[in-house]
Amino acid sequence: MSAQNSRILAIIGQGYVGLPLAMAAVDAGWTVIGVDNFEAKVAQITGGSSPVEDISDAQLQAALSKGVYTATTDYSIVAKASVITICVPTPLDDKREPDLALLRSAASGIAPYVSNETLVVSESTSYPGTLRDIIIPIVNSLKPTETSAVYFASAPERVNPGDPVWNQKNTPRLVGAIDEESQKRALAFYESICDAAVSVSSPEVAEAAKLLENTFRLVNIALINEFTQLCSASGINVHEVIDAASSKPYGFMPFRPGVGVGGHCIPVDPLYLTWWARQNGGKATFVESADSINHEMPIYVAERALNMVDQSIKNPKVLILGVAYKPGVGDVRETPVSELRDYLKAKGVDVAWHDPLVPVWEGSSPVDLDWNCDVAILATKQPGMDLNQLITKGIQILDCTNSITGQAGVSSL
Ligand SMILES: NC(=O)c1ccc[n+]([C@@H]2O[C@H](COP(=O)([O-])OP(=O)(O)OC[C@H]3O[C@@H](n4cnc5c(N)ncnc54)[C@H](O)[C@@H]3O)[C@@H](O)[C@H]2O)c1
Repeated sequence: MSAQNSRILAIIGQGYVGLPLAMAAVDAGWTVIGVDNFEAKVAQITGGSSPVEDISDAQLQAALSKGVYTATTDYSIVAKASVITICVPTPLDDKREPDLALLRSAASGIAPYVSNETLVVSESTSYPGTLRDIIIPIVNSLKPTETSAVYFASAPERVNPGDPVWNQKNTPRLVGAIDEESQKRALAFYESICDAAVSVSSPEVAEAAKLLENTFRLVNIALINEFTQLCSASGINVHEVIDAASSKPYGFMPFRPGVGVGGHCIPVDPLYLTWWARQNGGKATFVESADSINHEMPIYVAERALNMVDQSIKNPKVLILGVAYKPGVGDVRETPVSELRDYLKAKGVDVAWHDPLVPVWEGSSPVDLDWNCDVAILATKQPGMDLNQLITKGIQILDCTNSITGQAGVSSL
């Protein structure tokens, strides 16, 4: 069977996006090759141990043992695939601007192995024009001379790791391709995996929609973080206000305050938007302002917690509970808890942390919940984190998650 007729999918990058996609495609009857350039991760996956929470070892092992999924560092194997999806990170560089080095290297990695009629899809989040101006020129310049037609589309991933309801299958997928034939093939591919594929007129629309979705979250979180500080200064419980506003049946959507924003998407993607705006001579003022407000939140949280400590204590001990950027995952990428810890340490505070899902964080190890502290900051409420022993001991807690109610010694944001 020629590569273009096979139901073989190659996925570049086997992380939070690539591995769940691989398993969803396996469920839909595809044979999947997962390519990742990180040898240790490939070895872990091949050994049947899933590196992401949303995929169980049992599910991974079943796919491996049936021979419908393999992981490798070897790019040449993508020659067998009719569809190649790129799911590699798109982080920020030192200047907090788009860093597409991994995306470029993925495009260069697959290019020598694309066959005639291979469909190449980028699922990585990036600014509008990335598929057309970066990926396509790389693939076209490095593809084999005998490969004439390659199809290209953008279908940004929307997965929300740890979400028990929404996943690759039931989250509608945006698909925008460079021409009619690419669109037809990309829609057919995603319709084979997802319940619904949403056709848009160009890759740029799909890329821009992804940035809009995540920027929408960033600015609303910033709004509620700012609003929380105003309410708190006036002695008003912001959560009661949010609940009250939520009784309006239209035109309002509740967002909750927290230590800031974290993860690979919400703090990062809007900066792809602000950069893209600057490239086009514009300015995303509103988004920049939201980013600043969220970055001030760890300082606000630290000061609130320190105010709960007896002021005669010179070097207070603060226990941070939960360092992952959200509950249910061990993902610490861009966690705002880093800024919280750094600020506290700079003030001479003795800081320790506890997170049942994070074994090591930036070279440091967690402490047990019985670590002796003057105040605890609940930054992320992880499942299985039993805080009763702190409450019983009378330890003061600043709850940034609104998950402890009606307990003496516990303040919420
Ligand atoms: N994590 C999320 O919640 C989420 C949601 C939607 C979209 N996205 C987007 O999806 C993309 C991937 O994110 P992720 O969270 O899966 O990242 P990740 O870090 O979890 O996984 C990416 C994998 O790609 C591998 N990799 C990097 N460069 C490579 C290369 N050149 N060749 C082969 N493998 C390579 C890494 O080793 C890693 O295993 C990003 O653009 C991200 O913004 C992420």
